[in-house]
Amino acid sequence: MIKNDLFLRALKGETVDRPPVWLMRQAGRHLPEFMEIREKYDFFTRCRTPELASEITVQPIRRYGMDAAILFSDILVIPQAMNIEVEMKPNFGPYLPNPVRDQKGVDNVVIPDVNIELDYVMQAIKATKELLNDEIPLIGFAGSPWTILCYVVQGQGSKNFDKAKAFCFTNPIAAHQLLQKITDTTIAYLKAKVKAGADVVQIFDSWGGMLSPVDYQEFSWQYINQIIEALKEDAPVIAFGKGCWFALQEMGKSNASALGVDWTISALNARYLSGRNITLQGNFDPARLLSPPTEIKKMVTQMINAFGKDKYIVNLGHGMLPNIPIENVQAFVEAVKEYNG
Ligand code: CP3
Repeated sequence: MIKNDLFLRALKGETVDRPPVWLMRQAGRHLPEFMEIREKYDFFTRCRTPELASEITVQPIRRYGMDAAILFSDILVIPQAMNIEVEMKPNFGPYLPNPVRDQKGVDNVVIPDVNIELDYVMQAIKATKELLNDEIPLIGFAGSPWTILCYVVQGQGSKNFDKAKAFCFTNPIAAHQLLQKITDTTIAYLKAKVKAGADVVQIFDSWGGMLSPVDYQEFSWQYINQIIEALKEDAPVIAFGKGCWFALQEMGKSNASALGVDWTISALNARYLSGRNITLQGNFDPARLLSPPTEIKKMVTQMINAFGKDKYIVNLGHGMLPNIPIENVQAFVEAVKEYNG
């Protein structure tokens, strides 16, 4: 049994004294102890070495005492396991030297045995569970099929993912085959992660908001929903969609345990659109962590009051930025723990 089960209770919609808190990308470059490890080992070595991945996962927990840990890994380990080369270039980000751009490329994409190709992730989960000692739950994650397709086709990060969209809109049959291959792999992967010890899973649809509402249903949501349906008996699923407020009504009808929202929507509108019943997670502007600590505390209290303390998980609206002072993150977490509205 997990000692601090606040996060699991909020996912079930139970009444709590205060909402749980964790931050997307809580392990990362703003932490000096992370930078020490980063100097010695490249990105995928950190992901592939259970001792390093588990240590990096618990670093923010030791410092701030969040109510959930998220495994240090990356969404791009999935395309790697599917026979697509992925590099992480310092000061550049992900780089895929042979992007998938046609039917032949899609045919070459492999649906791997996740227990073999991604065994290192399962080992990292087991090592992390030991370090966490059942104090708090562990989140496992994957990218949404659409967000993975964005990188696999574009070959790198982008402001508009124009090549990814061009592929989908000119060759929808191949695009849907690719999305289905990613979906099937992701379902097997998340089930294996839960079996290895992940208590909750989150799907990151970081680039869903790039699509029109109609295209979102066709190229993103239907695949996310397949994953939710496949995982719902295994573990609670959180669906985070950056910029996907337009789809909240549809998402609110799903079997997800919670929906992650970004800072471009008010709590009031997010509750209204999602149907008021489902747990929501978010949505502090990551750049607002640059405000002075006293102001951060005020804003966090206002945010909890706006969402309500129940059916709510305090988080950012997207990943933590590298230039955030430690004291500011401390103030953010403290404000939640001191909440007594
Ligand atoms: O949340 C956490 O603390 C767990 C760790 C985590 C990482 N990546 C570690 C990481 C998670 C959940 C991710 C998910 C991820 N990776 C997403 C979805 C979430 C989001 O932010 O939208 C995406 C789009 C990626 C792809 C990716 N990985 C990019 C675009 C980059 C480069 C950007 C950057 O910040 O440098 C990465 C690299 C990466 N993944 C880093 C970390 C800590 C930084 C590289 C490093 O410090 O060595």
